[in-house]
Amino acid sequence: MKTIGKFAALGLGALGVMVSAAAASDMSDLPDAPGKDVTLAVCTQCHGIDLFAQPRPAEEWSQVITFMIGNGMSVSDEEYGTILDYLTTNMVPDAQGPVAAAE
Ligand code: HEC
Repeated sequence: MKTIGKFAALGLGALGVMVSAAAASDMSDLPDAPGKDVTLAVCTQCHGIDLFAQPRPAEEWSQVITFMIGNGMSVSDEEYGTILDYLTTNMVPDAQGPVAAAE
């Protein structure tokens, strides 16, 4: 009986995730800076930006990207460089204001 209850709870949980992912897919709150387009286009193929729209240290970003390649992400060397640059310039805890960097 316990097992059935657990599965029902899991089902509801998955539904909640799907609903919030759908709602989040319209949202675009990454900093405006060169590379944003490519990053958004590539990184929202499998999930919403809510999963990664938060600052991380640069070395964590390269681990995240490697991890996503393991998840099946495919990017050219150029896209890889653009995304890594974008994230490590604009999405790190001490970013200097992305708008200033873009000008
Ligand atoms: C091919 C599909 C795919 C693409 C493209 C993709 N991801 Fe993911 N991502 C996943 C999956 C699947 C998960 C969930 C992994 C898990 O937690 O089980 C995930 C989870 C994440 C997480 C959460 C990891 C954690 O520690 O909880 C972050 C951050 C993330 N992705 C960032 C990115 C970024 C940044 C990009 C673009 C460079 C990207 N993803 C592109 C499939 C993808």
